[in-house]
Amino acid sequence: MSDAHIDSARPDFLPAADYRDPARHRAELDRLWPRVWQMACRESDLAHVGAFVRYDIVDDSILVVKTGDGADDVVAYYNVCQHRGRRLKEDWSGTISTTLACRFHGWQWHINGDLHSVYVPEDWDGCPEMDSASLGLPKVKVGRWGGWVWINQDPDCEPLADYLGSVPQFLDPFEPENMRPLWWKTIIAPVNWKIVIEAFNEGYHSWATHASGVNYRNSRSPGIAHGLHSMFYSESVGPGEFKDPLGKWRLPKSTQEYIWANNNHLFNTLGALALEPGMAANNRLLELPADTPSGEVVATMFRFYAEEFEKRGVTFPPNLTIENWAKAGTDWHIFPHSICLPSLDGALWYRLRPNGHDPDSCIFDIWSLGRFKPGAEPKVVNDIYEGFDAFRGQCAFLEEDFANMEAVHQGVKSRGFRGARTNPRQEVPVINFHRALAEFTRS
Ligand code: FES
Ligand SMILES: [Fe+2]
Repeated sequence: MSDAHIDSARPDFLPAADYRDPARHRAELDRLWPRVWQMACRESDLAHVGAFVRYDIVDDSILVVKTGDGADDVVAYYNVCQHRGRRLKEDWSGTISTTLACRFHGWQWHINGDLHSVYVPEDWDGCPEMDSASLGLPKVKVGRWGGWVWINQDPDCEPLADYLGSVPQFLDPFEPENMRPLWWKTIIAPVNWKIVIEAFNEGYHSWATHASGVNYRNSRSPGIAHGLHSMFYSESVGPGEFKDPLGKWRLPKSTQEYIWANNNHLFNTLGALALEPGMAANNRLLELPADTPSGEVVATMFRFYAEEFEKRGVTFPPNLTIENWAKAGTDWHIFPHSICLPSLDGALWYRLRPNGHDPDSCIFDIWSLGRFKPGAEPKVVNDIYEGFDAFRGQCAFLEEDFANMEAVHQGVKSRGFRGARTNPRQEVPVINFHRALAEFTRS
């Protein structure tokens, strides 16, 4: 979609109705989710023929199924029996070994969704539309990008590549398709899904919210809209302090110590973006003379990353150059429900969706992706948490973000909330998100 849908609404204001008008919520259920591309699973979740993942959105349950050995041999169809409507698969993932059978009256489908058999078909003799074409499981559009399988319920949707627009051009150098999960955590969060998106698609909150290990007061996060999608990058207006290993706040003595301090904080409190191979590179960086020019520090850092990955049997992405890394910035909001922060070590990737019809609950997935030697990828189980309190102790950095969520969710409903006074420079992704939402939800 082009930028033409972006109207000229104020960049510094969002009406409170955007958050609390029940008609908006209804419009999202009816007109947004059935028409947008959504990340249904990782391609690596479908490791063998017959493997399936179930992806539920609002009232619909969709099965994404591996039908052959080729990368394109992936289909998606509705997880609903064409006899009386029973949900076919109740597990979230598994294998369809021969046929997909309904346990109610035993109708069966092939793994590609074509009808296999009806039990006692002669009882329907003379009835119309009892042929295979009429009784196949209704298909859902499928696309692949970034190591994800995407689905779209709209049969007339634009291709995934068109929908993503310029996003892959910025993120492909990181080779997200070759990343694998280090962990995958899901929170059933007692807030509207948009509140979480807006906590992660801007960096203006970093100084006040993330105050425990790095002082972000001198960081700025200008945002840029890319059609429906948006991103922000980071720039510094002066040195930032960090808490040293003894717990004392101090200024880094060199560029390399500044880089190390930021990554070390992420490594210890987030468990994403800065992972073990990257920290090995960062630790080596500290051995450079303190007066090494910044450009040389960054060039050396890239060399160390490549070397550390090579030691671990991983080829560092050849197109992940200093230039491409800088161009990609910090954080990408892929409309409507995904946020990707790419890094040299991997990526932190979020996915949000409403929890059924409830405007006060959402399903919030978080993946830490890394680069692993083929065959040595971690075996990851999906940890599920009921609410932010249940998540406590998992990830200190994210818990700083989570501490705002319910308070914002409640606050925007207050009669005392006049509307959001968005930062026109650093909260561009928030404003752009609402403009894109309006494009889909207006009647
Ligand atoms: S509902 Fe599935 S076979 Fe009857
Ligand atoms: Fe944050």
